[in-house]
Amino acid sequence: MGHNSFYVTTPIYYVNDKPHIGHAYTTILADVLARYHRLMDEPTHFLTGTDEHGQKVQQAAKANNVSPLEHCNNTVVRFQELWQRLGITHDDFIRTTEPRHTQIVQAILSDLHERGLIYSASYKGWYCVPCERFYTEKDLVDGKCPECHRNTEELEERSYFFKMSQYQDRLIDYIESHPEFIQPAHRRQETLGFLKKQPLGDLCISRPKARLSWGIELPFDHDYVTYVWFDALVNYISAVGYRTNDALFSQWWPASYHLIGKDILTTHTVYWPTMLMAMGVELPKTVFAHGWWLVGDTKMSKSLNNVVNPMAMIDQYGVDAFRYFLMAGMSLGQDASFTEKIFVERYNADLANDLGNLASRAIKMIERNFAGLMPPCAEIGDDERELATLCLAAAGNMAEAVKNMQLDNGLGTVLATVREANRYFDKMKPWVLAKSGDLATLGRVLRHTMECLRIASGLLYPCMPKKMTILRRALGISEDAITPHMPRLSQWNVLSEGAKVALDEALFPRAEYKEDAPAAAPPAMAPTPKEKASKKADAVPGVISIAEVGKVKLQTAEIIAAEPVANSDKLLKLQVRIDQDLRQIVSGIAKFYSPDSLIGKHVIVITNLKPAVLRGVESNGMLLAAEHQGVLRLITTDGPIPSGASVG
Ligand code: MSP
Repeated sequence: MGHNSFYVTTPIYYVNDKPHIGHAYTTILADVLARYHRLMDEPTHFLTGTDEHGQKVQQAAKANNVSPLEHCNNTVVRFQELWQRLGITHDDFIRTTEPRHTQIVQAILSDLHERGLIYSASYKGWYCVPCERFYTEKDLVDGKCPECHRNTEELEERSYFFKMSQYQDRLIDYIESHPEFIQPAHRRQETLGFLKKQPLGDLCISRPKARLSWGIELPFDHDYVTYVWFDALVNYISAVGYRTNDALFSQWWPASYHLIGKDILTTHTVYWPTMLMAMGVELPKTVFAHGWWLVGDTKMSKSLNNVVNPMAMIDQYGVDAFRYFLMAGMSLGQDASFTEKIFVERYNADLANDLGNLASRAIKMIERNFAGLMPPCAEIGDDERELATLCLAAAGNMAEAVKNMQLDNGLGTVLATVREANRYFDKMKPWVLAKSGDLATLGRVLRHTMECLRIASGLLYPCMPKKMTILRRALGISEDAITPHMPRLSQWNVLSEGAKVALDEALFPRAEYKEDAPAAAPPAMAPTPKEKASKKADAVPGVISIAEVGKVKLQTAEIIAAEPVANSDKLLKLQVRIDQDLRQIVSGIAKFYSPDSLIGKHVIVITNLKPAVLRGVESNGMLLAAEHQGVLRLITTDGPIPSGASVG
């Protein structure tokens, strides 16, 4: 590969999920890294895409009455649209249903099968449908799936296995001799711990079509499709010409970074490297596992109804502010907390106050005192020298931060420099200089402030490309230099004297956080101190406040499927559609409704109810119904209204 090239990948996202902040985070991170590397003139390739096979897609397609591919075609656009809005500059978007991918997966399978590295055997185990994974009895926790804690079914079937076990020692050696391979270090320890704890088993890489038909057919047995992970991981090489375009492949492979979330560490640091070893392909240079975004200190989940919707955040605060918050707010490798309140506080402090205000104050003074033309650089005093040294150091710091995957540190240094420029500005009191007519000193102060803003705008550009383009234009930078070039950011006195300086509107208008109108996720369920106080005040038995009513989230839903729950004459297991999502709800209405009579009914559901397990079946929500003297009727809507509409 070209030694200087940079190839970064994101996980390919399950197409049946709505994109959330976690998906947005990894993709923005990859984008910011790709943009930095491009600014450093490194040939860069950035790949993202979607993971389109598997049980969940098959089920969702069935529920929507469309073919699985149609379902994928309909839903992939959610990701593509979001990436466009977020200003993501991927070079390629791979879908695992594309022939350029499926053909390579099949070629790899044939090859490994012919070489005896894939064999057939009978397998008995416990299968978790949502996770699409088999477990041994000892893996189960209280008889349930160790990952998602749902029920598993015991199944026996003939399957195909990849001889993963034979690579165990080689993989341990590789990880130990390549400390950069798994980062951060604690994740490396996690994988090593896993590999050293027990003998590594072989990997079941097939699923019988009788159970799951939506997958890549095994080239040597038409009754089976490929296990989704064995299919999905290959995207990283099928997209860059593995087996089809050697020149392209050697240009980009091995990848510089596979960026992943911590939950998919084993697949990327055990399955994937052993697959590559079997294929005789070099391993990626680094698999980097980042932490999770939590909402407050709670895990994000559909059933808690606290999933942060990136589109809502962008609508309210703008793309660049959202990108900035995600990059500055997470120390790579650790979990981070997202709440709209923290977001607004950081936005106001860093962007509206420190950066935006300084730019608008300095530019306004140039407009007023220098007819909007950039003043000369003039002589440099101690204060200016200090400021310049800091700014130039920030450029070096950022390059290091990018190399060491410490973007939050790099951004922190830039913002610290901007704060220093604010101090310099306030210390020099340009408004006093303007009043006294000392234009020479005034010009010097403004010009040095502008130089600092130029460097900051360049260093922040990969993170906030739109706003920093506006800022750079406002600083009078000519169009051919609007995209910053890293070496220029390590020089002082670059702006052109006499260039037109102008900023039409505030770069980052101050935002206000309104507690009762969240853009992204509903407020936490715990009462706020204000709520607690109001509760005390109106403590009339049986009477609740409007805030308490607001805690119950009611939505319209359409019943898509219904069936009885085994060993119960009261319960029905329902699948309901709520906007684009499907949910399973168990409801005690079997005595009043036959399953068939329910299909297509538009009902009202409590959607933020804690999940429960009834007769071994998970239930995520509750249908509203009225009961009177032994008669029960579901509450439905008076006329058509789309599912997912909020009720209240
Ligand atoms: N399809 C697989 C990946 C296959 S890669 C060959 C997959 N898809 S996913 O859509 O479920 O998840 C994609 C990524 O989102 C994972 O890296 C996961 O860690 C990340 N996140 C999901 N929730 C997250 C947060 N709350 N915070 C940060 N990232 C999280 O897994």
